[in-house]
Amino acid sequence: MAWQHIEIARFGGPEVLELVSEDALPAPGPGEVRIKVLAAGTGFTDTFIRMGRYPDFKGPLPFTPGYDLVGTVDALGEGVSGPAVGTMVADMCVVGGYTQYAVRPASALVPVPEGIDPAEAVCLPLAYMTAYQMLARAAAIEAGATILVVGASGSVGTALLDLARAMGLHVIGTCSAANMGVVTSYGAQAIDYRAGDFTEAVKRATGGRGVDAAFDAIGGAHFSRTFAALAPGGVLVGYGSQTMATGGESLIAAGLGLARLKLWSLLSPLLGGRRAVWYSITDRRKAHPEQFADDLTKLLGCLKDGRIRPVVADRLPLAAAGEVHRRIDKGGLGGKVVLLPW
Ligand SMILES: NC(=O)c1ccc[n+]([C@@H]2O[C@H](COP(=O)([O-])OP(=O)(O)OC[C@H]3O[C@@H](n4cnc5c(N)ncnc54)[C@H](OP(=O)(O)O)[C@@H]3O)[C@@H](O)[C@H]2O)c1
Repeated sequence: MAWQHIEIARFGGPEVLELVSEDALPAPGPGEVRIKVLAAGTGFTDTFIRMGRYPDFKGPLPFTPGYDLVGTVDALGEGVSGPAVGTMVADMCVVGGYTQYAVRPASALVPVPEGIDPAEAVCLPLAYMTAYQMLARAAAIEAGATILVVGASGSVGTALLDLARAMGLHVIGTCSAANMGVVTSYGAQAIDYRAGDFTEAVKRATGGRGVDAAFDAIGGAHFSRTFAALAPGGVLVGYGSQTMATGGESLIAAGLGLARLKLWSLLSPLLGGRRAVWYSITDRRKAHPEQFADDLTKLLGCLKDGRIRPVVADRLPLAAAGEVHRRIDKGGLGGKVVLLPW
């Protein structure tokens, strides 16, 4: 049976995403299942991978991009007893999501409860999991705390706002002027980071005290500005080097940003108990695979109950992958674009 997927044969701009047709369905090997993909997530990290700048994936080429997927189990490989054929599952595959059929290890899959929209479910494995694990595990934040979300209008940013609202946190979010409505729609206070010094604006908004936790993926020198917005005892969670990824800062500057996080943690007693940690979803999953499945199952339950509301900015066919990457590169999407392969 003929089927289609997106392929990248060389790292580069959105033009390297090509729609490719295959004649025979891929066969699952021992321990694997074949998934009929119903929704594939797109996002900034996919563009980072496309350019060959993502530390956790450097090939081999060619490959199919796509960090997360939701679909139904279509065939079982040798030795696999479940999930059963027909079960809807979610997976954070890092690459391989932009396709009609994917072959994945059965052990990596998390069942999706019935009645959930696959396009909404696919917002969870990367964006909501990152947000949830940073709030609940890296920062161990408690109800009533005040947090700062840098880049609050993005996929992870809106996931942080949505979860923070569900957890009873007070939130200040930075974004561009055009996206302030997205941020305030979650009940957060929006600060336009282009309109002035956001650190000062955060201090003013908190009566000079600062925030209990801050989340920053801009990275490099930007971490210093976010760290300065912390209240005594507060924690900065760094989780990206976006300025380096988009070519605005060197690898060395990004490395210095990471070194600063370590230094601040070492010097924490001299800094009013303020500290900093690094979060990586891939590292955390390797170190605690059981937490990954537990946390994703919990989030899928929240989606089923209507406690969280992912923003699907657009639903497009596989053939639109190049166009979607152009839109992500331009910025300001205000949600996640989902590819619907069928
Ligand atoms: N460590 C991890 O495990 C992990 C996991 C997932 C993602 N990430 C990283 O997290 C970052 C965000 O990913 P995403 O998928 O949420 O991307 P996204 O949807 O493209 O969002 C990025 C946001 O950054 C905002 N932005 C750009 N420059 C900014 C600045 N100087 N100050 C404040 N906001 C700024 C943009 O907001 P405006 O459009 O409003 O300007 C945009 O909405 C990426 O660097 C990604 O690699 C890390």
